[in-house]
Formats: sequence, C-alpha cells, structure tokens
Amino acid sequence: AAPLRIGIAGLGTVGGGVAKLLEQQGDLLAARCGRRIQVTAISARSRGKDRGVDLSAVRWHEDARALAADPEVDVVLELIGGSDGVAKELIEQAIKAGKPVVTANKALLALHGTALAKAAEQAGVILAYEAAVAGGIPVIKALREGLAANDVRRVYGILNGTCNYILSTMRESGREFADVLADAQKMGYAEADPSFDVDGIDAAHKLAILTSVAFGRELDFQGIHVEGIRHISALDLQFAEQLGYRIKLLGIAGRTDHGIEQRVHPCMIPLDAPIAHVEGVFNAVFAEGDSVGNVLLTGRGAGAGPTASAVVADLMDIARGHHAPVLGIPAERLAPGETAPMGRHRGA
Ligand code: HSE
Repeated sequence: AAPLRIGIAGLGTVGGGVAKLLEQQGDLLAARCGRRIQVTAISARSRGKDRGVDLSAVRWHEDARALAADPEVDVVLELIGGSDGVAKELIEQAIKAGKPVVTANKALLALHGTALAKAAEQAGVILAYEAAVAGGIPVIKALREGLAANDVRRVYGILNGTCNYILSTMRESGREFADVLADAQKMGYAEADPSFDVDGIDAAHKLAILTSVAFGRELDFQGIHVEGIRHISALDLQFAEQLGYRIKLLGIAGRTDHGIEQRVHPCMIPLDAPIAHVEGVFNAVFAEGDSVGNVLLTGRGAGAGPTASAVVADLMDIARGHHAPVLGIPAERLAPGETAPMGRHRGA
C-alpha cells in the first residue's frame, strides 16, 4: 500500500519525539498498519538544530499553513500550540483541503473544539487529539470507544503532569515551588508559558475536552471553576500528610441536580485512595460508568515519549482507516455545553 505522508508543524518536545518514534519504530508500525508512515514535510522554527533524527529528505516550509496545501502531505500534524493564530488556521485549512489532522493542542480544542469537530465531520475528515489529554494515557479512546456503551456519571483526574510533579517533589524533598518548577521545565513537561500549568488552566483545557467526550456536550471551557497550586507550600503538603491526606490538583466533572459541573482545584485526597499515590509526571483519569463501574487509568501525562506515543497512535488509526465521531457523538447532535455554576452545591 502507498505510504501515509505526514506534514509536521512544530518540532519542539512533542514534534521531535514523534519524528524519532516514527523513525525508530518504522518497521513495526508498517507491519501493524499495512503501510508505512513517512514524514514528507516539516515547518519548524530552527531548521539546523540537531534533533537526533534524519530529516534530510524532508520538504521544509517557512509558513506552517503551507502544509495544508502541500500535495505530498496526506495528514497534517499540528504541534505548534496556542489557542488561535497559525495553529488554528492550519487546522481549518487542512480540513478544508480534506486532509486528516492530528493535534496535541488542548488549548485550541478547549476553546474551538466544537466548531472544529463540526467542520471536520462536515468535510468527512478525521480530527484526532489523543495526545491533548493526559499525555500517553489513551483516555480519549477509552472514553469514546472503550466506554461508549456507558452513561458516564463522573469523570475526574490528575490532568497536569507539571503540577503533579511539583507537588510530589515538594512533598518528598521539602524544596520550594519555584525551584521545582524549573526542573519540570528542564524535563520538557511544562507549557511554553508555565503559568498555564501552575494556575490550573492547562488542566481546565483538558477537563473541557474530557467533559465533552464523557457527557456528549459541546465544550464549555469558560464554565470551569479554576484554581491553581501557586499558594501551596511544602509545609501544607507535610501537614496534609500528617492528617492522612495528599494534596493533588484535580479536574472534576460530574452530573449534578443542576446540570454538569466542572472544576479544577487542589484537593485533599485520603491516603487510602489509589489516586493519592499517582506521583511525579504521572496523570490519572477516573471514570464512573453505569455499566462498567469504576475505571482508573494512569500513566505518564507529559514529556516527549508519552506524548509521541499518543500522537503516533492517532496516525496509525488514520493509516488503518479507523474513524469515530470526533467528540463521541456526531458534533451537530452534541447537547449545549452550559456548565452549572459553582457554589450552590457540591455535586462531585
Ligand atoms: N504541560 C502539560 C503537563 C503537558 O504538564 O501536563 C502535557 O499536556
């Protein structure tokens, strides 16, 4: 079969990891998909930089949007990031050109996911985003395909690897916040602007996506109550421990009498709960389905390897011709995304 030709926009931590994984596992992926997945074009800031992959035969574009029009690109991989601008235009243009899109861009999906899902489905193209939520954990696939027969009542989890790493490390070492954040940045976990991590915004982006898929609703990022972890000290973490709790930043979405509620904030988790022991860069997603009962998924939520694992799985779906509605329900049939206000009740 003809190879699936990929154009990559953005060669940072994730893009570099994807190029490397495609090169290292090329034969295995070809055996599993029945065709090769080949990088034919790239748009990235520094062309000369050594990324440990041979990109000499690849076409380079100054402007990422050119990938949408490149006749040697079958699939566009958007790894630029940012909730508007070039990333959004590239995805829109790829969809218009009838090309499947794979993205890890949770910020963009949180704000424009409903419209993009509608556009993709109208054009009959795949818009895949497994890497946007919980890094290497196949949580979109789990909720959308694996648990498709369930009415999900509640979904919550540790959705930001940087915050979980910071909280774990502060607790274990007594080191302070700023110092540990610098480590997380060095390891390629943090966002370009780490305030997105530590102020809970990145977790909220991911929660908005999870809520949409779990409950069949339009995305409602604005409706999420958001608090971050800046105000938590090493001493807070130690005191919590003495009381039998571990502090984690959670994203929580659930059905309440007033509709769906969504919130992101630090939580005191009893030490006998499994999620209390998810440490470091690991994320966890817990879902409560009416038929399956409780499901808990954990794994690495950030970093080059785990994120590349999710991106390449999406590429393999496309290579194999697998197809599910972007948000689990055809986008035009999603329920309105209005979130219940906080404060009147505590549903979850
Ligand atoms: N900055 C994100 C995190 C990267 O720390 O979880 C993965 O989305």
